[in-house]
Amino acid sequence: MKKITAIVCCIAIFTCSLAQTKSTEKIIYKDAKATIDQRIGDLLKRMTIEEKAGQLNQLNGGLFTGPAANDAGQKTKMQQVRDGKVGSFLNVLGAKETKAVQKIAVEESRLGIPILFGFDVIHGYRTIFPIPLAEACSWDLKQAEINSSIAAKEASSAGINWTFAPMCDITNDPRWGRIMEGIGEDPYYGSLLSAARVKGLQGNLNDVEHILACVKHFAAYGAVEAGREYNQVDVSRVQLWNKYLPPYKAAVDAGAATVMNSFNVFEGVPASGNKYLVTDILLNKWKFKGFVVSDWASFGEQINHGYAADRKDAALKAIQAGSMMDMESKVIIDYLPQLVKEGKISVAQVDKAVARILYYKFKLGLFDDPYKFSNEERESKTLFTEANRNEAKKAARSSIVLLKNNNNVLPLTSSSKKVALIGYYAKSKDDMFDFWIGNGTADNAITIYDGLKNKLGESAISYAQGYNADATTNEKLINDAVQSANNADVVLVNIGISGKMAGEDRALANPVIPEGQVQLLKALQKTGKPIVAIVTAGRPLILTQINDLVSSIAYCWILGTETGNAIADVVTGAYNPSAKTVVSFPYAVGQIPVYYNHFNTNRPTPTDDFGNWYSRYRDIPNDPLYPFGFGLSYTTYKYSDLRLSSNTISKTDKLNVKITVSNTGKVDGEEVVQLYIRDITASIVRPVKELKAFQKIFLKAGETKELSFTLTGKDLSFYDADGNIKLEAGAFRIFVGSNSRDVLEQNFTLK
Ligand code: BGC
Repeated sequence: MKKITAIVCCIAIFTCSLAQTKSTEKIIYKDAKATIDQRIGDLLKRMTIEEKAGQLNQLNGGLFTGPAANDAGQKTKMQQVRDGKVGSFLNVLGAKETKAVQKIAVEESRLGIPILFGFDVIHGYRTIFPIPLAEACSWDLKQAEINSSIAAKEASSAGINWTFAPMCDITNDPRWGRIMEGIGEDPYYGSLLSAARVKGLQGNLNDVEHILACVKHFAAYGAVEAGREYNQVDVSRVQLWNKYLPPYKAAVDAGAATVMNSFNVFEGVPASGNKYLVTDILLNKWKFKGFVVSDWASFGEQINHGYAADRKDAALKAIQAGSMMDMESKVIIDYLPQLVKEGKISVAQVDKAVARILYYKFKLGLFDDPYKFSNEERESKTLFTEANRNEAKKAARSSIVLLKNNNNVLPLTSSSKKVALIGYYAKSKDDMFDFWIGNGTADNAITIYDGLKNKLGESAISYAQGYNADATTNEKLINDAVQSANNADVVLVNIGISGKMAGEDRALANPVIPEGQVQLLKALQKTGKPIVAIVTAGRPLILTQINDLVSSIAYCWILGTETGNAIADVVTGAYNPSAKTVVSFPYAVGQIPVYYNHFNTNRPTPTDDFGNWYSRYRDIPNDPLYPFGFGLSYTTYKYSDLRLSSNTISKTDKLNVKITVSNTGKVDGEEVVQLYIRDITASIVRPVKELKAFQKIFLKAGETKELSFTLTGKDLSFYDADGNIKLEAGAFRIFVGSNSRDVLEQNFTLK
């Protein structure tokens, strides 16, 4: 008995001291003083394979508080959070909501790993900025960075710490609804802009006002055939490297934390399962250190593509390719543990992916302060402030492209006292916004009507609807509009298509001005009054049918919260337009894709002879209606005296290019001076023009400036099909001008 008592005593002492060691043991991953690497290493050791799969699982959220929280689906998701099976949510919004979910993750799951909250903050969170395509037309990288940083600041105050932006897809197709979300048709400018957007969103990620960026859609999603959403892509490696990859790379080099797989195939393999894209290029060649997320269900949709046999195979193929987080197809959470147990995927491979996600959770400070982004007080102070709206207005004004301005009808002068404003959309908040409105609302947006009223006073404007919500018209609407026009000095007509037709799943086979609006303009033209078309749309519409019916065209895209105020500033001349289009405006649908940086072909059309057997259309010109880089101002600029520092340079030399630009008009203005090159003969055919530099300058009326550009070998090189940089001796041409068509040019030789 004594012996038993002694043994029990011993066990008790032993257990007690064991418990003591346990309670004093340092949990490294919870120790803010340990390095991120140490913390990740420690945490990985503690995680089960199911919990690791959880970190790779991103679910669509929705409302977790209020009555919606009782929904069975939401309850299941919350249980999954408790079980450590969710690494991230998308579409859970607001400080209160995100905090409620974070609390479950941090306080009720075994390891307390915080959640990443992602959301598509595409052009603003609550204060809505111009669509990215419009913003691109400003050629103002600083403003673009500011716009993104405000979007980040607002989103971060609402609990969001990750956005699925910027979209870095080059596209030549206005049929594609997502052209609105991008950077236009030029890889050089698109690269600079993508990097600026990443910087604006992320800052250095050390404060509470910036969020993770996501470079999407990797890769070449902008090349979807016929502009149809989710369609296939078939581009060569040469095109991939030279045309499509540069903007993604620039964004990665700018430090983007995440990259999103695209939906399309590349060389017949879905991007999510494409080892060449994800591992060979992104992870190995570019040394991307962040994590890769699928596009919505794109892991699972490899089955529809005909690449994965079933959901398990889809999970295997995605992970084998190097992809990491699964957005909404749930194949990783369902099959990864099994695939590891079967030895098809190694634990080391899983750890690599999980470590990258954990890294950003540590980097954002979520382990130490999980609710830092979910602060209701900060949220209410940060959203939709006067300062944010001011920046949105500046951004909107500088995005408006003046395409035509015969007889200087714009800006309105003191003699145009009575203004007819015509167009259903000019008063319709409902049609002002696209699909990617963030957490904004049309209620507080300024319509064109409101903007003009603010600026000119209500009595100066006579409004007529002109057409219906669906852009059809009828005799009465036309007669009313004509009557308004007859009583006015100048007629402003808001034409275009509803913002609702811009964004994902908004492909259009006919991106044209609707027939009802063409009829309306024809009737208005007969009044003999000067007519200004204010075109609103998320894409470059084909303007050929209306081009000659109007004196002026202000292309206003989708400008966001401050639309009306910005447009009023432009039409009244309070702001002198300076934007230049970053996409060509096609002459006809059949011309698509049309873009400035095309190849010369074997039979280029001579400009002085429109003869036979050339690469041309029989019914329309080859050139777009308005070329890349084009945009007018209320003043005029003269370019002269293009000078090169030498006619021959070596591969290590720098070439200096000088140009003189004068403001020859009567008002001050800003001009985007553009420099293009052509590599005339190369081992791989190069485009007829490639943008390589630009400067946005301010010139007072009558002022002249001499500008200087420096080009190096890097600017004259290109990629081969394997992504190697080639710099080849031979003849080159330099062009400088105010758009891709109207240029001065000179040749030089690279030895
Ligand atoms: C889009 C992505 C977007 C994601 C999440 C997808 O359908 O293609 O661009 O980020 O949904 O909303």
